Amino acid sequence: MNKHVKTYAINTFGCQMNAHDSEKLAGILENMGYLRAAEEADAGLVIYNTCCIRENAENKVIGNLGFLKHQKEKNPGLLVAVGGCMPQQEAAAKKIKKAGVADIIFGTHNLHMFGELLQEALDTGGKVVSIWSSSDGSDDITATSVREFPWRSGVNIMYGCDNYCSYCVVPFVRGRERSRDAGVILKEIELLLADGVKEIMLLGQNVNSYGQPGGVAFPDLLRRIAALSVPRIRFMTSHPKDFSKELIHTIKDCENICRHIHLPVQSGSDAVLTAMNRKYTRVAYLKLLDDIRTALPGIAVTTDIIVGFPGESEQDFEDTLSLVKEARFSGAFTFLYSKRDGTKAADMADVVPAHVAKERFQRLLDTINPIAMDLSREWEGKATHVLVEKLENNMYSGRGNNNTPVHFPKISEGLVGQIVPVKINEGKTFYMLGEQL
Ligand code: 5AD
Ligand code: SF4
Repeated sequence: MNKHVKTYAINTFGCQMNAHDSEKLAGILENMGYLRAAEEADAGLVIYNTCCIRENAENKVIGNLGFLKHQKEKNPGLLVAVGGCMPQQEAAAKKIKKAGVADIIFGTHNLHMFGELLQEALDTGGKVVSIWSSSDGSDDITATSVREFPWRSGVNIMYGCDNYCSYCVVPFVRGRERSRDAGVILKEIELLLADGVKEIMLLGQNVNSYGQPGGVAFPDLLRRIAALSVPRIRFMTSHPKDFSKELIHTIKDCENICRHIHLPVQSGSDAVLTAMNRKYTRVAYLKLLDDIRTALPGIAVTTDIIVGFPGESEQDFEDTLSLVKEARFSGAFTFLYSKRDGTKAADMADVVPAHVAKERFQRLLDTINPIAMDLSREWEGKATHVLVEKLENNMYSGRGNNNTPVHFPKISEGLVGQIVPVKINEGKTFYMLGEQL
């Protein structure tokens, strides 16, 4: 047996959900006596937790697997596991198998069984492929996770998605929407608080539709979590169609809910929003923003935007630019549309040529960034609270209450893991500079 076999490395691709899943995998492995390797190259077990939301995410994984193949030729004892979203999709699963390097392949619905799959691979020396097509509920466990940053943790409140936005592969790889029991969620948060966690990120593809009919709805859940005195609460992702007035009131009432909302708009054109199956209009989105900002002045709003969706005309794109100017986002994740097998949009005609999409993408960034910079500068002279994550070159760094990265010089020791008041001196496009108060 390889001398490194009890060390592991996890390479995570994709969203917060995957990042949290990787923390659960780390928990399973450390319970089995594995230690985290300093570098992937030193590990006896390498896990790729994959994403397939866009083609480039997939290509990155396949490229990396090619590299791992060389590593394995040099070190035949190396165990490779590939899991997460890619194996849930037939075409992507085939690519993983073809890469010929994975000893274990698992999906999103049986990640909690990784320990058993690993043991089977070790016992038999053979390949183990176990991908469930849907969840049987057994994945809903309160796993001991090993957190990347000890003071912050994700908490799943729901799994899957039923929205079927026409471009999106998530409902196919993460399955039907399932809300977790409120009591289980609260218990998990109590355990995390007892373990020193200061910030909880509630995770779901569409947190606003949390709950069963007649059961606890998302605003009630938030109030109950806030009442546990969690120092900071965040949640993502919000779907604009389900963002209720009650949710706005709840945020206003609970000071420990961070003043930041991630509210993906995807496009500013009604025709494109309809083709995307988003179920709101441009006017409805802007009205929602107005309601949020009237109740919660100064709240940061970030978004996701897709450029080059099939049929997007120059006018449609200009509608997105004008929405961005009206909405004034503090930041935006921007994506070139990527065709995904099995989705409705994959069959749509009128594909936007790549060079047109790229040119629009740049214009979009040129519109978003100056606004983000202006909003950041509005913080100058004001104070925020920063959960400090690290100390490097005598500068502390962390995220402000509004989720913007904040850096400030060290004048006191031991601030990592603390929530510290900081006065902002300089706002930049993607971060702010300040001083400890
Ligand atoms: N192409 C480009 N972007 C996509 N997203 C989801 N599916 C696609 C796709 N096929 C983006 C959306 C979503 C974010 C997580 O990823 O903007 O909000
Ligand atoms: Fe995908 Fe739409 Fe569900 Fe978000 S809400 S995960 S974009 S289908």
